[in-house]
Amino acid sequence: MSKLVAIVRTISPRMEKCELTHLDRQPIDVALAEKQHEEYLDALRRLGCELEHAMEMPFHPDSVFVEDCAVVVDELAIIARPGAESRREEVYSIAEALEQFREKIYYIESPGLLDGGDVLRIGKQIWVGLSGRTNADAVLQMQSILKPYGYSVDAVRMGEGCLHLKSAVTQVADDLLLLNPDWVHPDYFPDFDIIETDPDEPGAANALLIGDTVIYPDDYPFTALLLAEEGIELLLVDNSEVIKAEGGVTCCCVLVGVED
Ligand code: GLY
Repeated sequence: MSKLVAIVRTISPRMEKCELTHLDRQPIDVALAEKQHEEYLDALRRLGCELEHAMEMPFHPDSVFVEDCAVVVDELAIIARPGAESRREEVYSIAEALEQFREKIYYIESPGLLDGGDVLRIGKQIWVGLSGRTNADAVLQMQSILKPYGYSVDAVRMGEGCLHLKSAVTQVADDLLLLNPDWVHPDYFPDFDIIETDPDEPGAANALLIGDTVIYPDDYPFTALLLAEEGIELLLVDNSEVIKAEGGVTCCCVLVGVED
């Protein structure tokens, strides 16, 4: 039997001091963010995830965005080296949380820069976005770590205004991607069908597929409708405060498949 563990972390009370790259700063209601985060954790539990809480990091405004700290595949974990200097310390407690689940743990080393949000993995295919946070050196390091295990690792160029690759494209069913064509070209993904986000909702491509269900923000109703019309089962969450912090539903967990 295998289970899915979701490594998560609490919201920092300093969240409104978060890194912002493409968004204007807006007030963040931390109490509301905490309530929304609890609902998100409930959604993960409802979809069968066992939660593993990483050490709290209240002085790190972006620390709830644990996805950026690590990339996990069946055989090993890679600890990222975040592109934003303010976030570099976040990775060590995630490495600690991962030690119980993966024997082999690799680290992206300088001059490599990698945010986990730039990594999309589907089976043995891995795409890495060359964003403001992730560089080509990190892609080379990932290739040398992962190719011996049979993974392909391809670099992806992204359009202006996009923070991470997974802001631009995520998986919503076995052979189906949700993608914003202004931010990433669909030709990178020839083996997949594509649903394009509604043009009025550029941030809507970030969805979290667990089993056959997609955790999806209720902040993007037009794209949600497109997904529902395709027969995708949605578990809607209110994610307004995380979105103001330039985060999304994939950002707040690291999923780890574990054999019982
Ligand atoms: N605020 C999310 C990030 O920039 O990393």
